[in-house]
Amino acid sequence: MTTRIDPHSIPQVALSFMNEDHQEAVNLINSLLIHAEAKDGEKVTETLHAFLKHNAEHFAKEEEAMQQYNFPPYDCHKGEHERVLAELKQEIERWNTCHDFEQIKNYISETVVTWFINHLNTMDTVTAQYIQRFQN
Ligand SMILES: [Fe+2]
Ligand SMILES: [Fe+2]
Repeated sequence: MTTRIDPHSIPQVALSFMNEDHQEAVNLINSLLIHAEAKDGEKVTETLHAFLKHNAEHFAKEEEAMQQYNFPPYDCHKGEHERVLAELKQEIERWNTCHDFEQIKNYISETVVTWFINHLNTMDTVTAQYIQRFQN
């Protein structure tokens, strides 16, 4: 049995656009795990691309908000987004060559899930708290 994220149990941050995007990420992560378990290669490929697109767009939105309010650790947060996007692209390439269901399942259920929860609890929480102060 693969680890799935309970959509109601993810950390909430102080900005709703971020929470909504994070919810969408949970749906994509859970879909990926379901498709990988069902060994549906086409659906895995399709959902991996949707997840990459979702992350690229979500990270860009967070980065734009950070720049707009001159969030001091901008570079640090953006750097982490870039590292994760590069890693995901690499995993997609590996998936495209090998179609290894176990490998992609482990990458999503271990690396991605752990990173996601940790990122929400740390950088995203601090960023949302900082930006929200300017919006009241
Ligand atoms: Fe985020
Ligand atoms: Fe982030």
